[in-house]
Amino acid sequence: MSKAKRMDRREFLRVMGLGLTAAVAAACQPTTQMMRGNRSTPVQGTRVVTRPPTRAAVSPTPVMTGTPTFVPDVEIALRAVEGEASILPDTVTRVWRFEAEVLSGPQDAVQPLPDTYLGPILHLRRGQRVRIRFTNDIPEETIVHWHGLHVPAAMDGHPRYVIRRGETYLYEFEVRNRAGTYWYHPHPHGRTGPQVYMGLAGLLFVTDDEEEALNLPEGEFDIPLVLQDRTFDSRGQFLYLPNGPMDRMMGFLGDTILVNGKPDYTLNVATRPYRFRILNGSNSRIYKLAWSDNTPLTVIGVDGGLLETPLQKPYVVLGPGERVDLWVDFSRYTVGTRLTLQSLPFVAPSGPMGGGMMGGGMMGGGMRGNTSSVSLPQGAPFPVLTVHVTQESRDTLSLPERLATVEPLPFGEAVNASTPRRIALTMTPMVGWTLNNRTFEMTAVAEDEVVRLNTIEVWEFSNVGGGMGMGMGMLPHPMHVHGEPFQVLRREVDPAFRAMWESVKDGYIDVGWKDTVVVMPGERVQILRRFADYTGLFLYHCHNLEHEDMGMMRNYEIRL
Ligand code: C2O
Ligand code: CU
Ligand code: CU
Repeated sequence: MSKAKRMDRREFLRVMGLGLTAAVAAACQPTTQMMRGNRSTPVQGTRVVTRPPTRAAVSPTPVMTGTPTFVPDVEIALRAVEGEASILPDTVTRVWRFEAEVLSGPQDAVQPLPDTYLGPILHLRRGQRVRIRFTNDIPEETIVHWHGLHVPAAMDGHPRYVIRRGETYLYEFEVRNRAGTYWYHPHPHGRTGPQVYMGLAGLLFVTDDEEEALNLPEGEFDIPLVLQDRTFDSRGQFLYLPNGPMDRMMGFLGDTILVNGKPDYTLNVATRPYRFRILNGSNSRIYKLAWSDNTPLTVIGVDGGLLETPLQKPYVVLGPGERVDLWVDFSRYTVGTRLTLQSLPFVAPSGPMGGGMMGGGMMGGGMRGNTSSVSLPQGAPFPVLTVHVTQESRDTLSLPERLATVEPLPFGEAVNASTPRRIALTMTPMVGWTLNNRTFEMTAVAEDEVVRLNTIEVWEFSNVGGGMGMGMGMLPHPMHVHGEPFQVLRREVDPAFRAMWESVKDGYIDVGWKDTVVVMPGERVQILRRFADYTGLFLYHCHNLEHEDMGMMRNYEIRL
């Protein structure tokens, strides 16, 4: 172990005492493969059809049959493959990527993106019956999850359904979600972070009649923007957790910001309105997005689709997994103008062991430097992308005053309105990040993780220290719940964390339908959710992918 690392370890001991040190040490072990679902006896209700690993599995001619009664409106072949991408100048970077083709149904259901490792955009419609044949052709187990979609448990990409290279998983589901910006990514236990990092991620747009009636910017004026950060080695290859396990406690933070898989992203626009669909596809980085000329952001949608009415924000805070849809009107700019969408500084802890926020916190960028050599720490400012106004346009569209109907879930009908299901975001000695001090177990569900079908519940994510002591071992956690989207009821912050909270609070969007919510240190966030349609095992977890892989994920079960 290097001298620097030894210093780190001593620092841990001093700051944290033995408990957390042990937790860090445990997390320092290489990821162990957890128990797996047994493929030879598929869990009841699944429609898994696997094939021997042969190249013939690539054949576009469907050989597998799905459920005879399921007649798909669209059928897509999706593959995870090894490949290359040009990201840095004069360099070829090895990546993993999704590829897709339409086997039957509307050809525009798959929109390949040129010149990026990102997967094609899947275009689905509410009410559509979708069949996806997913083939794994990367050298490890994987499975695909449709982030934000409300689908049956066996179609949700739970890690117990991982398939090996050469195998195919058959998904069949009906699109029940509202129009909105969703995405898909791998979900194998312990390997989601590295697989997304290697490039496995893609957007999934859902449309519906309500959205189509609005006349929002479409086609080339509807811009997908996937924000990710990476670190490259000297040969231009992706470097994951270069400082080893210590960074895993924090979550991966890269030094290069990529938009749609490219650094120094510039978007040429015309003087007219655009729709920007922004996904934070980063492993652990949180963005605080703002325009360089201080124009407020006009938010029209979040994770689960359009808001009721547009919302003006000085900046928007976007945690890993979250999406925001913006209306951006460039008509008041003159040709030649350059604008930057930037990430503003915010107060963030420097690490689970840094104790950086004690006494009101410290500004991002002001790392104490004792725990990590990350050059762009959480909370540090940086430019995200440049917009270059290059063209005159006479196209006028006006921002609708009313976008969609967002019916509030009836709080009064919640079965636990006075006793919310409490999920403490915890750090457990010898284990690492946990939920209620429990780590992920492939098929286990605790008594207090069972939800009744067709009920509404209040859940409270509580990031108040988890027993390790005030200010100790606390980080922001973007909490995600699989299944139907939820509504944010309320947030509370411990006054000791005021400074950190003040630096992000105006960027929260707590209206509309969400599936991921940032819970900052000192915060307690209550959400309201309905559990309808499907029974079975679903996941809730931190969408900081290193935390998720470490076990900050649990099943909940919807029972009849
Ligand atoms: Cu986007 Cu369970 O994940
Ligand atoms: Cu999800
Ligand atoms: Cu987390």
